[in-house]
Amino acid sequence: MNPALLPERVTIVEVGPRDGLQNERTPIPTNVKLNFISALAAAGLTQIEATSFVHPRAIPQLADAVDVARSLPAAPGVTFSALVPNDKGLDRAIEAGIRRIAVFTAASETFARKNINMSIDESLTTFAAVIQRARSAGMTVRGYVSTCFVCPFEGEVSGDAVLRVAGRLLELGADQIAISDTIGAAAPTDVHRLLSLLLPVIPRERVALHFHDTYGTAVANVVAGLEAGITTFDASAGGLGGCPYAPGASGNLATEDLVYVLERMGIATGVSLQRLAAATQPIAAVLGQELPSRNLRRLSVAAC
Ligand code: COA
Ligand code: ZN
Repeated sequence: MNPALLPERVTIVEVGPRDGLQNERTPIPTNVKLNFISALAAAGLTQIEATSFVHPRAIPQLADAVDVARSLPAAPGVTFSALVPNDKGLDRAIEAGIRRIAVFTAASETFARKNINMSIDESLTTFAAVIQRARSAGMTVRGYVSTCFVCPFEGEVSGDAVLRVAGRLLELGADQIAISDTIGAAAPTDVHRLLSLLLPVIPRERVALHFHDTYGTAVANVVAGLEAGITTFDASAGGLGGCPYAPGASGNLATEDLVYVLERMGIATGVSLQRLAAATQPIAAVLGQELPSRNLRRLSVAAC
């Protein structure tokens, strides 16, 4: 692609402590999570999704959300956010002192139902009240739209379905929409097609792209996003991740791999790759497994 068309800078939203850890069965102690989060901030990440106020039975790994949120580090310039599925989740987020929440629904009915036990319209009604209350409390709100390309239950998802849900979340008061490829099935042509439909309606600075790397297409999809002028991308340290409600979904785009490719393209991320690798290594150790990130592996070998 033409380097003259690239942005100077990109914002990475680090979702490792939430999307990354939520699917891991090995319990990770709260203090290990907090050290991970502090180290991610020290590596230069300025947007960190720290935990999730969903039902602890739905995501046992994040049952310590209130404890994590209450002990987040004082990190100037860093915004910590947390997932909130409903009113009860917002109560817990407020109690824990979180200032930015992320609500989440889907572009396909079956996934919304399996993930949050609501139809899409029910979820939008729920979020209308949640967003209003959050904003009155001075919080800011991100909106996720899951299954924007392929649903694990319904197959291909139409761009019109994505546009309807994304548009509604913005109307309700979300300031950013994370267009999410929950099962990592999209290719760059899909990204191009969907953004061609969304961007005439939704300002590009309000769009973030959230890719999983199940089929190895995540970096290519980021490039398609850059070509369309998107400058916010989600990623997960180590390539951790997956959704227990999305069969076949595997890890997120690895933050290390995203930082490498962006910096190599001359796009500033503000993130130190060495420090990022150091942040992730203790999580790999607790999980007792090698994580998918290629650059984490490369840096870990180099450090041996
Ligand atoms: N946190 C803690 N407890 C909650 C809660 C929350 N956010 N929301 C509801 N509950 C409790 C209620 O208080 C109620 O408790 P009770 O039985 O003791 O009265 C019980 O859960 C059932 O409440 P209900 O509103 O009927 O929830 P539900 O069973 O329909 O579940 C969700 C809805 C959204 C809470 C649940 O599906 C969920 O947490 N999903 C998240 C899935 C996820 O995180 N996926 C990965 C991210 S993409
Ligand atoms: Zn995800």
